[in-house]
Amino acid sequence: MINFVHIVFLNPQGNFDPKDSYLTEHPDFGGQLVYVKELAQALATNGHKVDIVTRKIIDSDWPEFSANQDIYPGTEQNLRILRFPCGGNKFLSKEELWPHLSEFADEILRFYGKSLPDFFTAHYADGGYTAALLKQRTRTPFSFTGHSLGAQKLDKLIESGGCWRDLDIRFKFSQRIAAERVSIKYADKIFVSTLQERDEQYRHPLYSGASNSDKSIKFSVSPPGVNRKIFNSVANQLDFSIKPKLDLTFGRSSSQAIIVSSRLDQKKNIIGIVKAFLERRPSLDRVQLVLCIRGIEEPRVDIAKLSKDEQFVLNEILDTIGRDLIGNNVHFLNVTSQLELAATFRYFADRGSIFALTSFYEPFGLAPIEAAAAGLAPVVTKNGGPSEIFSDGSGILVDPTSLQSIGDGLIDGLNRARYLSKAALERVETKYTWQQTATNYEAAIREVLDTKQRELPIYSDIFNDNKYIADYLSSRS
Ligand code: F6P
Repeated sequence: MINFVHIVFLNPQGNFDPKDSYLTEHPDFGGQLVYVKELAQALATNGHKVDIVTRKIIDSDWPEFSANQDIYPGTEQNLRILRFPCGGNKFLSKEELWPHLSEFADEILRFYGKSLPDFFTAHYADGGYTAALLKQRTRTPFSFTGHSLGAQKLDKLIESGGCWRDLDIRFKFSQRIAAERVSIKYADKIFVSTLQERDEQYRHPLYSGASNSDKSIKFSVSPPGVNRKIFNSVANQLDFSIKPKLDLTFGRSSSQAIIVSSRLDQKKNIIGIVKAFLERRPSLDRVQLVLCIRGIEEPRVDIAKLSKDEQFVLNEILDTIGRDLIGNNVHFLNVTSQLELAATFRYFADRGSIFALTSFYEPFGLAPIEAAAAGLAPVVTKNGGPSEIFSDGSGILVDPTSLQSIGDGLIDGLNRARYLSKAALERVETKYTWQQTATNYEAAIREVLDTKQRELPIYSDIFNDNKYIADYLSSRS
C-alpha cells in the first residue's frame, strides 16, 4: 500500500469549476475533463492530497475561471482546483497554448516552492509537455494520459482531403506531435484506456523512437469509469420534473428513439447517423431521432452562438434533414447538465431506445458507457475503444464510413434493445468504475515512486525534432 501522497493533475486546456461550466459544450471541455475530475475525486476520497492545475482566465466571456482556487463540494478537504497564468488573461483554445506552457510551468514551480508534490499526472499533450518541463527542473516523476493523439487525428483529416500545411496552421500538429513525443519519452508511466490504444495508437510511425522502454512496464492499461452517482438506471426527482416536458415533445406513446449526444465536431460523424436514419425511414417511421446537443434547442436560431466549425457541422445536418422533419421525426434537445442528460437517457431507455455514436475514431468512448449505465442499448463505432468495451457483444459495432453498416446497426439495435441494454449495463457495472481506475493509478504511482532511476528530459528535445513529420508525410504521398 502507498501511504497518502500529493498528486497534481496537469491539465492546461479547458477549465474546471463546481458547476462544470461548458462541459461537452466546447471542444476543449470534452471527455478529458470528465476523466480528470472523476479520477481526482476518487483519489481524494481515497485520502490522497490532490490538485487539479489549470489556466487562470480573466475574461468576461468566461467568468467562472478567474479565481486562483476553487473546490468541488464534498471533496474540499483533499482536492483543490488551482489556476495559474498561461498566455495572458483571455481564454485561449488548446491549439494556442503551446508557446505559453513554459510560463505555466514557471508559475506552478513558484507556487509550490520547496513543497513539491510527489507526482504529476499529465493529461493531453499540453499537460505532458508541461510535466516534462517540470521534471527537467525538479526530477518529479510524471504519468502521461493522452486522451486523444494527434497522429490519428492528422491521418483522418488527411484522408478526408485536408492538406498538411493548412492543417498544421489550424491545429498546430507540429507542436502537438512533438509534445506527444516528449511526453511519451519522459513519462514514467503512460496510462491507456484499452490494449488497442497501446498497441495501435502509440505504435503510429509518428511516435517511433519516442518510447524506448519495455511497453509492458511503461504502459498501464486502465479504463476510465462511469460516474454511477449520475449515470445509473434509478429514476430520481429530476426524472419526474423533466418528464412532462419530454412527454409534450415525444408524446405519451412509447415509441423508440435513437439518442445522439455529442459535440458538433466533424470527427464525431453525427451526419452519418442522420443520413442512415433518413435512408431507412420507411422501416423507422415510428422511431424518433433525438440529437442532444448542449446549447441547441432551436437549431436555426441557436446556430449563431456557435463557432465556425460547429456551424459547418450543424448546417450540414440541417440541410440533410430538411425543414419538414424537424420537430416531427427529428428533435433537438438542449440538455444542460450531466444529471439532466442521465435523466433524459433513462426516459428514453424506458422506451427501449438506443444510443448511437459513430465517430470516425473514438480513442476510448466514455459517452456510450455512460449511456449504457443509464439503460440505453449502444450502437457505436468499431474504430477505437468501443470495440474493446463492447467486445462481449453487449453493444453493436458499426463501420462509421458505411451508411449501410450504420443503418443495419441502428435497426439491429432497435430490434434487440431490451437484451442489449441489460447486457451493456452489466458490462459497465462490472468493468468501468472510477474507483477501479483510481486503484490502477495508485498501483502505477507506487511502482514509479519505488523506482529511483529516472531519465531526465533534455531541453533540446523539446520542439526541436520535426524531421520525423517530414519523413512520415513523404512516406504517405
Ligand atoms: O473529447 C475528448 C477529448 O479528450 C477532449 O477532452 C480533448 O480536448 C479532445 O478529446 C481533443 O481531441 P483532439 O484534439 O484530438 O480533437
